[in-house]
Amino acid sequence: MPDLLDKRLVIVTGKGGVGKSTVALALGMAAAADGRRTIVCEVSAAEHTSRVFHRAEVGFHEVEMAENLWAISIDPDEAMREYVLLQLRVRAMRDMLFRSRIFTYLAAATPGLRELVTIGKIWEVSQPDRKVKKGREYDLVIVDAPATGHGVGFLQTPRTFANIARVGPIKAQAEALETFIVNHRKTGVAIVALPEEMAVNETAALERTLVEEVGVSVDRVFMNGLYPERFSGPELELLEAAGGRGNGGVRGACRAAISESRRATAQHQQLARLAELVGAPLRTLPFIFEPEVGVEEIRELAREIG
Ligand SMILES: Nc1ncnc2c1ncn2[C@@H]1O[C@H](COP(=O)(O)OP(=O)(O)O)[C@@H](O)[C@H]1O
Ligand SMILES: [Mg+2]
Repeated sequence: MPDLLDKRLVIVTGKGGVGKSTVALALGMAAAADGRRTIVCEVSAAEHTSRVFHRAEVGFHEVEMAENLWAISIDPDEAMREYVLLQLRVRAMRDMLFRSRIFTYLAAATPGLRELVTIGKIWEVSQPDRKVKKGREYDLVIVDAPATGHGVGFLQTPRTFANIARVGPIKAQAEALETFIVNHRKTGVAIVALPEEMAVNETAALERTLVEEVGVSVDRVFMNGLYPERFSGPELELLEAAGGRGNGGVRGACRAAISESRRATAQHQQLARLAELVGAPLRTLPFIFEPEVGVEEIRELAREIG
């Protein structure tokens, strides 16, 4: 089985705020540094990648951010429009469909249709033989997926549609997307977690759901934002003693160090729990003690991953 960055598609998921966008970009940078033509696909309109690079919003365009690294923000309405343009050869019919705003109504009336066309676009981006104008060929597509819950539903959309549509092109295409998502050789999933008790429990549950119910291959779990264990036991005792004795400034510094150290210890306990609970290989990413997690900081994470 190919390792995570040797796949064609990597889906990064996890709870909201755990660092999915950061890790997706770090994975993209790691793959790009390794010579793989890589694109990071955002599906949330958050424009995380363009903000990190201090660039104009990328929108529904494949924009080069760095050597071997592209980004796109997949808007479902644009994806639907492009899909119809590719499917319908008859110009007059396309114009009529767009003018009638039929898609807006269709999307409103069909739960999951936006997710389906988004996954369709992800599939399209990862094809070696692109049909869209200005479509490049990538070695690796990384998806910054919606948060857990939404993320699981998102990945299940093709199967849902394949089951609903009894016959016809929608069924065939939904089945092709489903096959693509659960292809363990080509498609991998990475879960991002934080070193907190609840987050660890949720990560273990998410992995089970993804493997057992969605049927994808979970190839990596990242424990993000881990504090370093800076002090040994005897050093901590010295700090405790100094904290009790010293003047205001020294006491404050000692207490801050002790408190950070306790936090690190608690986090490492959660790391050990997570290692017990998940099946996929577990990697850690350090907490970045900087006011802003920018390009250089994420590149540092990419080096850890690479
Ligand atoms: N390892 C880390 N150390 C410090 N801050 C981090 C780290 N990873 C992510 N962050 C910060 O945490 C916040 C949430 O990260 P983000 O990647 O946007 O999460 P998500 O996409 O899961 O919502 C951002 O401000 C990001 O810069
Ligand atoms: Mg995000």
